[in-house]
Amino acid sequence: MDEILYKALTVSEEPGKGFISSIENKSTESLPQNGTLINVLYSSLNYKDALSASGNKGVTKLYPHTPGIDAAGIVTNTNSNHYKSGDEVIVTGYDLGMNTSGGFGQYINVPEEWIVPKPKGITLEESMILGTAGFTAALAVQLLIRNNQKELDGPILVTGASGGVGSLSVAILSLLGFEVIACSGKPEAESYLKMLGAAKVIGREEVIDNSDRALLRSRWAGAIDTVGGNMLSSILKSCKPHGNIAVCGNVSSPLLSTTVFPFILNGVNLLGVNSATTPMHLRKATWEKLSSTWKPGNLHEIKIVTTINDLRTWIDEILIGKVQGRVVLKH
Ligand SMILES: NC(=O)c1ccc[n+]([C@@H]2O[C@H](COP(=O)([O-])OP(=O)(O)OC[C@H]3O[C@@H](n4cnc5c(N)ncnc54)[C@H](OP(=O)(O)O)[C@@H]3O)[C@@H](O)[C@H]2O)c1
Repeated sequence: MDEILYKALTVSEEPGKGFISSIENKSTESLPQNGTLINVLYSSLNYKDALSASGNKGVTKLYPHTPGIDAAGIVTNTNSNHYKSGDEVIVTGYDLGMNTSGGFGQYINVPEEWIVPKPKGITLEESMILGTAGFTAALAVQLLIRNNQKELDGPILVTGASGGVGSLSVAILSLLGFEVIACSGKPEAESYLKMLGAAKVIGREEVIDNSDRALLRSRWAGAIDTVGGNMLSSILKSCKPHGNIAVCGNVSSPLLSTTVFPFILNGVNLLGVNSATTPMHLRKATWEKLSSTWKPGNLHEIKIVTTINDLRTWIDEILIGKVQGRVVLKH
């Protein structure tokens, strides 16, 4: 097929200047030829995109590069037997936006194995309000439930609560009938978090424990943590016996200092989430839930819609933990 010209936010490494982002005109022929060309109508901003956009080699090794781990759009051309031109699809995770040109460009070209057909119950825009953040939140909630977490066990703590994974964890848990304690560093986010369904909002300092005690008074029956570091070690100490803690992120620190006592005396379970490599059967089932019984009713109230021209401002904001809710890129 003929080449198509399009715009993409591209990050380049420039000697003496570091990593510079600019909006470039590109050709679909410059994309990797992975089999399915998709016209991206929406993407979203995740913390990982901000790392990729600032030269974090743990996320992206090769520059120049177009970030964007999320994309929703329409198949333009494909060699697949499962998809055809015009299909509405979602792509999140795998290598998209890491070392494969991502959703911050108006076109992507990906293997068909990465594609999820858009479920009927959500629009393309809604799929990106959710994006990797909502998908990860849903995976975390599923892990808790599969590990026998029950509403009557007591409250679930969500950290980094005003961020993407945090906001959607609060929304999904409360939709399912769990009592949610939202932990946020933004006092001004209290009404937002209560709108999402949090029963209580507490500050980070109310969770973090700097003592050398191995265990503390039980305060929650489980948790979804996006912060890591001292936050996670403190949550472990204060979790009720046999509670479940889903570990999603490391915005504060990748380090975890703990004793074995929360595990061997309290039977607490630490459950890891990796959304990017989630197998396709679980991926499709999770998106089906997110578009039906687990679809938060207030999705449009958490979106901040931006264009490629203003995206850099939001990248800088998310890097310093200032974003509340989900930034959706409308191409
Ligand atoms: N495992 C996976 O599959 C997976 C998938 C998606 C994301 N993640 C990870 O999850 C984390 C959150 O991602 P996201 O896209 O939701 O990011 P985000 O929208 O930026 O949310 C992060 C939130 O964490 C809080 N925060 C920021 N800096 C902090 C600090 N130094 N100490 C304590 N809290 C801090 C802030 O919320 P408050 O102000 O409300 O406290 C911030 O809004 C990242 O580490 C990301 O890489 C992992």
